Amino acid sequence: MNLLILGSGGREHALAWKIRQSPKVNKLFIAPGNAGTAREGVNVNLDITDFASLKNFALANDIRMVIPGPEAPLMAGVYDFFRNDPLLGHIPVIGPGRQGARLEGSKDFAKAFMQRHRIPTARYRSITGANLEEGFRFLDALDAPYVLKADGPAAGKGVVILDQKEEARKELSGILGGKFGEAGKTVVIEEFLHGAECSVFVLTDGNSYRILPVAKDYKRIGQGNTGLNTGGMGAVSPVPFADRSFMEKVQTRIIHPTLEGLKAEGVDYKGFIFLGLINVSGEPLVIEYNCRLGDPETEVVLLRLQNDLVDLFGGVASGRLHEHVLEEDPRSAATVMLVSGGYPKAYETGLPITGLAAEHAAETMVFHAGTRCRGEAVLTDGGRVLTVSSYGASLQEALERSYRRISTLDFRGMYFRRDIGADLSDER
Ligand code: AMP
Ligand code: GLY
Repeated sequence: MNLLILGSGGREHALAWKIRQSPKVNKLFIAPGNAGTAREGVNVNLDITDFASLKNFALANDIRMVIPGPEAPLMAGVYDFFRNDPLLGHIPVIGPGRQGARLEGSKDFAKAFMQRHRIPTARYRSITGANLEEGFRFLDALDAPYVLKADGPAAGKGVVILDQKEEARKELSGILGGKFGEAGKTVVIEEFLHGAECSVFVLTDGNSYRILPVAKDYKRIGQGNTGLNTGGMGAVSPVPFADRSFMEKVQTRIIHPTLEGLKAEGVDYKGFIFLGLINVSGEPLVIEYNCRLGDPETEVVLLRLQNDLVDLFGGVASGRLHEHVLEEDPRSAATVMLVSGGYPKAYETGLPITGLAAEHAAETMVFHAGTRCRGEAVLTDGGRVLTVSSYGASLQEALERSYRRISTLDFRGMYFRRDIGADLSDER
């Protein structure tokens, strides 16, 4: 069958690489894709939130499944659009409808949902212009640091963590005053939780579910988890602290009440639920929900998933996911992101990348995150440019392979963290 992936990052390149391996696939299209996805299938220049264009393309190319990578088309209702259109109803979209995507799209909705269903998460208050005083009182009741989150999507910039209460009060007023536009009309103030984070991707058909290999990403730009937050500078899988006992708690305290809560509230949720978790003294708490896979976590998780991903998606679409048993590759996987100089602030694009043509090694993949083709050349085209993923018998070996491959790649201003997985690699 013919499939269409929506998106253009490292996650979508990894999805295309994995999906391409399925014997069920005839033609694979990626919209809009990048120079890496162009090697796995055919890039199509479509605006992925312009559903009329998606419809025309899907009908003209006999598309039988749509796989959205990022949240934007899901929040905009791509699932509902296909489901409700008489000509598109037979084409499954692997992701939730607009209602379900609110778990990611509104922090206030997600926190209230967790409270309604007794899902462990940080204590919080939702504040608007109308109850600002309550916000100040809640800050008084908390210990530093202070966590403020704009309710709506703010291009990854909506979470602010501050050490001083006075700064936090100012920031609260600033966000409510329009600093992040509409997204900040409501602000969630949270208690700060101390612990190690991990990313758990749950795939559900609305009834049963499967948990993909657990990953950890490294969000800060600088060595030793310092500096500004980024989309993610690297990831590893497995995560040693996400052991059997921790994951049992994740299932009973978080996944079951989340799926039951969605059902009880009449939300038809098929697709991925990304649980951003924090381990507080062995107890899992939810930091955030996303309605999609994580990036760069996908670039390690899909390496460790042995199943045919198109088969699993078929199970999601038909409501028969329970018939599938997940098979995990016992090896470790690591990915290290190469970013443009200056990222996550301003950076240059259009710079030629060298070293991509080096001999292909079976244990290492170079996934493209922000690249484009110009003739034979591959140019940088984003903040995150390439991510180098490897398998290893140990996490250390996977990391060594990725760093070795990185030494053959270059573009002007290229930067990467040299300490991905260093906090974990001794534990295994
Ligand atoms: P979010 O967009 O909600 O995932 O927040 C971005 C990052 O901020 C998370 O990955 C955490 O590192 C951090 N963070 C968010 N909420 C909290 C919290 N309540 N306690 C500690 N760290 C947090
Ligand atoms: N790596 C975190 C995310 O995709 O949101």
